Amino acid sequence: MAGRVEAAPERVRIFDTTLRDGEQAPGFSMDTAAKLQMAACLRELGADVIEAGFAAASPGDFEAVRAVAAAVEGPTICSLARANEADITAAARALAPAKAKRIHVFLGTSPIHRQAKLRMEKEAVLEAIETNVRFACEAADEVEFSAEDALRTEPEFLAQALETAIAAGATTINVPDTVGYTTPDEIFRIFSYLKATVRGVEGVTLSAHCHDDLGLAVANSLAAVQAGARQVECTVNGIGERAGNCAVEELVMAIATRADLFGVETSVNRRMIGPASRLLCELTGQPVAANKAIVGANAFAHEAGIHQHGVLSDPRTYEIMRPCEVGMGESRLVLGKHSGRHALRKRALALGFELHDNQLAVACQEVKRFADTARSIADADLLRILSRLAARHEEAGHV
Ligand code: KIV
Ligand code: ZN
Repeated sequence: MAGRVEAAPERVRIFDTTLRDGEQAPGFSMDTAAKLQMAACLRELGADVIEAGFAAASPGDFEAVRAVAAAVEGPTICSLARANEADITAAARALAPAKAKRIHVFLGTSPIHRQAKLRMEKEAVLEAIETNVRFACEAADEVEFSAEDALRTEPEFLAQALETAIAAGATTINVPDTVGYTTPDEIFRIFSYLKATVRGVEGVTLSAHCHDDLGLAVANSLAAVQAGARQVECTVNGIGERAGNCAVEELVMAIATRADLFGVETSVNRRMIGPASRLLCELTGQPVAANKAIVGANAFAHEAGIHQHGVLSDPRTYEIMRPCEVGMGESRLVLGKHSGRHALRKRALALGFELHDNQLAVACQEVKRFADTARSIADADLLRILSRLAARHEEAGHV
């Protein structure tokens, strides 16, 4: 009897916008050389699409998009463009050297964007989408349309806008939470509604682009995936406008670690997560917080004695993923006032001191006393404490 064939998990495409939305954040701008280095790293990371910049924004950004388009093969290279001919033409010219190219056209659809920023009626917005998506389709292999501020747009009008973009030729439809306003339940409902009502939606890729103003960008992106999004726009270290975008490392590791819940996969090479994060910090001079998920210095560090004992017995007691799996080296047992004997014995041994139980008890007291006044204990501090204890031990006539 033939066995049951399991369907392969569906793939969620990673659209990396570190070099566009990410670099729009104050303090994160990158020149062409930096973008080229980062783009090569994003290719190694396995990004499906690299948004290299906004060609019409400045001559430097045009140059950077063109340089990435010429140098990076494999992923699709993309440039952002407002819904006008000049922007789309600049994007097309910058992308010309790329093997696979995508123009990303966007236009605001929410009432506040229509009234306060664009001063356009609904009809004019639909007309601009139709004309400009059609124009972009003549200039690039692929066109993505984003309804800016989609999550604050009237759902019926949003559906109409997306239907117009699909009819004009867009093959990726992005539904951005531009201001980080939505919640997981709400975005799930909106994506489900769009999947059920937008004509032509079955022939395109639905995409999520979530900002982190309420700290919900990753949770919202995952909820969109659960409702059928098959592209997520993210950035390394979660950089981006204001509080940032969905962090690629968090999204990818949530999908991988909770495959039982999400049932999808990405093509990201997870071992490149740490190197990509570190390269971005180096290029921008902006560090990540120590407690940042996946890539922070403390993401795999343990100071509490109970945790250290657990991790030494079996890392799965306090770690849901291995640091080496994400290019973050080894778990770290940090000595401090909360740490315990097991970690101290191991660290002392690595420094050449084999401690018997009574010596370990004394060393532990000394370490805690020192830790009460210092934030952390470096190897040099520990060496000093252990050497002093060893000398005292010898003086007392022990060998
Ligand atoms: O946040 C946003 O709406 C954007 C669009 C340009 C996609 O970045
Ligand atoms: Zn954005």
